[in-house]
Amino acid sequence: MSTRKHSTIYRKDYQVPDFLINELHLDFILSDKDCVVHAKTVFQKNPDSQVTSGDLFLHGQGLELLNIAVDGVELSSDNYQLTNDGVILPGMSDTFILDLSTRIYPDKNTELEGLYRSSGNFCTQCEAEGFRKITYYLDRPDVMARFTTRIEASKTSCPVLLSNGNLVEEGDLEEGRHFVIWEDPFPKPSYLFALVAGDLVSLNDSFETMSGREIDLKIFVEKRNRNKCGHAMTSLKKSMQWDEEKFGLEYDLDMYMIVAVDDFNMGAMENKGLNVFNSKYVLASKETATDQDYLGIEGVIGHEYFHNWTGNRVTCRDWFQLSLKEGLTVFRDQEFSSDMNSRAIQRIEDVRVLRNFQFREDAGPMAHPVRPDSFVEINNFYTVTIYNKGAEVIRMMHTLLGAENFRKGMDLYFKRHDGQAVTCDDFVSAIADASGVDLEQFKLWHSQSGTPELQIEEHWNSNSGEYRLEIAQTCPSTPGQLQENKKAFHIPLCFGLLDSAGKDMNPGKDVLHFRSERESYSFENLPEKPVLSLLRGFSAPVKIMPWQDREQLAFLMANDSDPFNRWDAAFRLSEAVILEITKSLQNGESPTLDPLFVAAVKRILTDQRSDKSLLGMALILPEENYLAQQMTVIDPDNLHEGRKFVRQELCRVLHGEFRQIWEENCDQGEYKLTPESMGKRRLKNVCLSYLLAGNAPDQTDVELALRQYYDGQNMTDIIAVLAAISNCEIPERLELLEHFYEKWKDDVLVMDKWLTLQATSSLPGTLASVQELMKHPAFSITNPNKVRSLIGAFGSNHVCFHRDNGEGYCFLAEQILALDSRNPQIASRLTTPFSTWKRYDGARQVLMKKQLQRIADKKGLSGDVSEMVRRSLHVCFFPNS
Ligand code: TRP
Ligand code: ZN
Repeated sequence: MSTRKHSTIYRKDYQVPDFLINELHLDFILSDKDCVVHAKTVFQKNPDSQVTSGDLFLHGQGLELLNIAVDGVELSSDNYQLTNDGVILPGMSDTFILDLSTRIYPDKNTELEGLYRSSGNFCTQCEAEGFRKITYYLDRPDVMARFTTRIEASKTSCPVLLSNGNLVEEGDLEEGRHFVIWEDPFPKPSYLFALVAGDLVSLNDSFETMSGREIDLKIFVEKRNRNKCGHAMTSLKKSMQWDEEKFGLEYDLDMYMIVAVDDFNMGAMENKGLNVFNSKYVLASKETATDQDYLGIEGVIGHEYFHNWTGNRVTCRDWFQLSLKEGLTVFRDQEFSSDMNSRAIQRIEDVRVLRNFQFREDAGPMAHPVRPDSFVEINNFYTVTIYNKGAEVIRMMHTLLGAENFRKGMDLYFKRHDGQAVTCDDFVSAIADASGVDLEQFKLWHSQSGTPELQIEEHWNSNSGEYRLEIAQTCPSTPGQLQENKKAFHIPLCFGLLDSAGKDMNPGKDVLHFRSERESYSFENLPEKPVLSLLRGFSAPVKIMPWQDREQLAFLMANDSDPFNRWDAAFRLSEAVILEITKSLQNGESPTLDPLFVAAVKRILTDQRSDKSLLGMALILPEENYLAQQMTVIDPDNLHEGRKFVRQELCRVLHGEFRQIWEENCDQGEYKLTPESMGKRRLKNVCLSYLLAGNAPDQTDVELALRQYYDGQNMTDIIAVLAAISNCEIPERLELLEHFYEKWKDDVLVMDKWLTLQATSSLPGTLASVQELMKHPAFSITNPNKVRSLIGAFGSNHVCFHRDNGEGYCFLAEQILALDSRNPQIASRLTTPFSTWKRYDGARQVLMKKQLQRIADKKGLSGDVSEMVRRSLHVCFFPNS
């Protein structure tokens, strides 16, 4: 175990590298037992470095050093010093060539970082700091070099040999071996290096760029998956087209390759010219993938493609600037998906992620700024804050500038920084300089953590027709940042004022710039008291303390011209209703459902004009994980019962309506991925879930569900039945789970869905069945997708994970401990459900803390997991505790 792993690194300590690297020649000799890597690196003293000693430190981890030579002269072991995280070469001259040979063992690599094997094939994952597991190197993003990569391997086991850039040479060798040489003309940081070697086939296509260049597109997969790449290829071509049209950005190599692998820690990786993907984000057919899967593939393919400019051509100076590439690229993929599908639905989905996960992170011990000030393990900072809040920060700049000025800002950013490694501040400067918009105060979004909270007061003077809005902002304390020291954010508030007929009264003037702790806005000469539609399109990542009454929310649901806010009004109304019912259950009262709410839901069900996916979205109640955050002391049992009561009551009172909508949207004809078709399926399947909302639903509804299951022509409709029935205590539940397993047991991605459905069931036997499934052939502890689908999904099961006997906590802790040494990145992500432990009742706090302590006490715990549990145990800011 290295010492550096557990120490904190600070952004303020950044120093330029002492040496730079012009070029690097890599040679990989692959065999079944190991891999020998030769690296020839041309070093040069960095003119910007103040250090004069000439000492060179290279990162390296878990490497077997075979040979090391400087300018052709082999070094004896007293000429260098090996440390536990690298090697020190003292007193180097201003330019020199380093020759290194190391041996690594891809087969033994269970962390899936560096060079490893997945289903027998070799692949790499170097972001963030995995390249140092391949060879000794200046493994930091501000060192950019031109890479040449030679690979040699057996022709039979590895017919395909890939790396970044262009293929410049290939040929046969003795003993059934062959080699290739790839050359990447673009200087890049080591985290963008990739190598793939294995028995793969490719789907091939091409794309003509706006300047008329022909690009070869290839998606590599295992042979059996060849017929499932069509959607990924279409998505890639759409991404290339979109980036040209929206940002004038063209692809820059002659070939773009994507490889799908089953064992992958994250979603996908943007390695230059050679993306490596989790197969979940490549493979799809209507029989095996849901509408959500299709959209996910399109989004991730876009995301990785867009990184070619935002991330690769312009990269990050250091890992504290991670959001420079991730926030911006998420913003770009969200915009792409909005243009390809439904903008309103995309926005709703993105805001759900933000509220369910990012707001929770921002309110707990892991809260950090979009540009963090420190970290122990960078892998822990690939967070919803960096990605999704980072995207919101870009979106706000877009709102403040307008589309045209934003584009000018992007153009200037590329013009200034192409080929450089830069900071979040550099991005803001380019945007500000190109547009003339002052963004000094706005930058607080990068440095202050926590979700701002807004208080609203309305004043109406019927004599003068003056409507006055008083808005106050605060931001709760977060680790390292006290509330009283935080400054006011610059918050763009898009809004509308509706008259009693539901029409907008204020055309034109629709963004308030809220920049101080408290501000007052007046609107004069209004003919009647308006209804305020605030934060249209969710124009800023803030919480607004509830201020509107239920009549106003129902009115906005029916009338707001902003589709996002129509949905949001339904969300806020449902939230209020469920929390109220939960409270009455806690008080031992028998709850009743507010007739105003029932009427509002009925209006959705009988709405003939609105878009069906929007109606479907409006019928989905806020998730338990979100609602829990709104409670002073989280009470998982009553919250679950409260939410379930609302669903069952709606089903009882509006049964006929749910049935009718289900029937009307039942026959789909041909499977299409248009927003209309997806909208119909969503609406129909939401209605189905209400019909099966009770423990023991109507037999006629069960039969209708069975019909949809057995007649289903696509995975969306089939999984919808399984998801609904997985919470019912009826014999058909096991029958369908069995049937589904038999039918799909050979498809690992479909099996992931099967595991998740069982792990997220609210039935009392869930933990026991999760424990059984751990031994099932469909599960494998070595595959991250399986771990997420079963163990991760159980951790997000708000009712079963939090059973008051603590068995869920104990189970999760055991799994984290078991995974810690095998794959620390994955183990670390499983700790999230523990992070909010202080928000629960005293008895649960004791139980969760005990498990956190148990994990913390493990000898040799990874830096990844240790950072998470230590923060959870020792950070004391919990806003509601
Ligand atoms: N840069 C990748 C993306 O956002 C993220 C990523 C992929 C990653 N694999 C990783 C980050 C492994 C850390 C470790 O698309
Ligand atoms: Zn990314």
